[in-house]
Amino acid sequence: MAFGQRVFLLSIVALKTLGKTGIENTFTTPIIEHKNFFILPDIWQYVVDINKNGIDLTGITAMTFEVEACQDVSIIMSSSDDGDPKKPMYNFVIGGWNNNQSGIQRRDDDSPLPLESQLNHRFLTPEICNCSEYRPFWISAIKGDIRIGKGLIFGINDIANWTDPNPFTIRGIEIYTNIKNIGEWKVQIEGLVIENTFTTPNIGTKDFFHVVDFWQYVVDVNKYGLDLSGITTLTFEVKACGEASIVMSNSEVGDPKKPMYNFIIGGENNTKSAIRRRLDDSLTGTSQRMILFPTSGVCKCDEYRPFWISAINGELRIGKGRIVGMDAIAGFNYPHFTVRCIGIYTNQEYIGEWKVQIEVLNKLFDGNFLQCSTNNKAVLDILLSKKTSLLQCAIMCDMLSSCIGHNYHYQSCELLAFSPGHGVVTEIPMKQEDGWEFYTKCYRYNRACLWCYF
Ligand SMILES: *[C@@H]1O[C@H](CO)[C@@H](O)[C@H](O)[C@H]1NC(C)=O
Ligand SMILES: *[C@@H]1O[C@H](CO)[C@@H](O)[C@H](O)[C@H]1NC(C)=O
Ligand SMILES: *[C@@H]1O[C@H](CO)[C@@H](O)[C@H](O)[C@H]1NC(C)=O
Ligand SMILES: *[C@@H]1O[C@H](CO)[C@@H](O)[C@H](O)[C@H]1NC(C)=O
Repeated sequence: MAFGQRVFLLSIVALKTLGKTGIENTFTTPIIEHKNFFILPDIWQYVVDINKNGIDLTGITAMTFEVEACQDVSIIMSSSDDGDPKKPMYNFVIGGWNNNQSGIQRRDDDSPLPLESQLNHRFLTPEICNCSEYRPFWISAIKGDIRIGKGLIFGINDIANWTDPNPFTIRGIEIYTNIKNIGEWKVQIEGLVIENTFTTPNIGTKDFFHVVDFWQYVVDVNKYGLDLSGITTLTFEVKACGEASIVMSNSEVGDPKKPMYNFIIGGENNTKSAIRRRLDDSLTGTSQRMILFPTSGVCKCDEYRPFWISAINGELRIGKGRIVGMDAIAGFNYPHFTVRCIGIYTNQEYIGEWKVQIEVLNKLFDGNFLQCSTNNKAVLDILLSKKTSLLQCAIMCDMLSSCIGHNYHYQSCELLAFSPGHGVVTEIPMKQEDGWEFYTKCYRYNRACLWCYF
């Protein structure tokens, strides 16, 4: 790691984990007749998709939830994000077989399986569900290691496990309650939110439709070198008199030949907002479109105002507040492209002060750990303390999504987490102890081993 980069990354102002209150959604799974996962080609029509926000879940490996149901609580992890029945799926059953057993099932495609080919990896779990009480569980599927557990801590108290010799990447998670049961669910997708502050300078007057290489005027919000491919939403607060603008580009480097979306909040002297796109760098009418929306007084010179933008399957939206999908003030549909980078700017000689939040789902953990220091321990909540090898210690931290890193010294392993409900993290407290080393999880590429930079 280059020293210069380390200094650069010290400009992180605030970093917070969402923990259990993170991305939590509630769902009700309705009564359905008995649906056999192995027999029914299109099971998708009976399930509830947990991905309310259109987040790209590709590579997600685990989920925690609480569920109130008498029995037959079921979760599907599918290899497609739209429940394509032709693609492989896992089915996790909790409290099946009269609330007496739980198990893991897998199917390859939509051809009905005869009874003798139906693989049920079943385990005895008497009275695991309760009709009138929320019960906490986790499920995980990490490189073919498929598990169900009790409680909200991954890897602890497993009740069913199976090793899949042919694992697949998970892109969607769906839930249902089988055999005429109804379920009330609280589902958490754990994630991190990184918040950065930026100033967008006075760039004079630059029109997105008239400048070929527009990217040179924007501030890239991705300070960490995270792989943002597929990012679909952004929340931020901005203090500006108007013209608070965002570019979402199909290229990682804002290549002007690639398609871009442009959002303008408080344009035309803070009277209108706009959603625009250009397909390439031709600067011609055919590649460019713009729709305006009246939004008088939406920005304020001396006040941070919260906004969100989203670009999900080509549906572009701008909204007020911090909750994506609520209080939209502008919306238009354009042809879809994958967003790979995001830049911000303020036009018309305005200056903007921004606080931008980027969600880093735990799935972005790239499997690497970086040693942050020697003869130092990080002082955080200890999830688990165990005698084991350094490798085993890292594997355990890998499996626990709340684990942000580990302390290690001669076979002694401590898995570390932030305490539940803590706020913004501005430092990782350290304590000097001979021989101890603190290792942090790295999020997509070694460049983003976040906890080393405090
Ligand atoms: C639970 O399953 C076990 C093993 O199949 C069986 O012996 C037992 O009778 C079952 N209990 C109930 C209440 O169904
Ligand atoms: C189910 O939950 C209710 C309410 O908390 C409790 O009274 C009851 O004993 C539980 N039943 C079982 C079998 O655990
Ligand atoms: C898998 O489940 C079995 C049966 O409950 C248990 O004996 C075993 O320890 C589990 N394996 C792991 C790796 O946890
Ligand atoms: C912008 O609005 C301000 C306040 O309403 C007004 O004084 C100013 O003349 C307007 N500028 C333009 C270019 O319309």
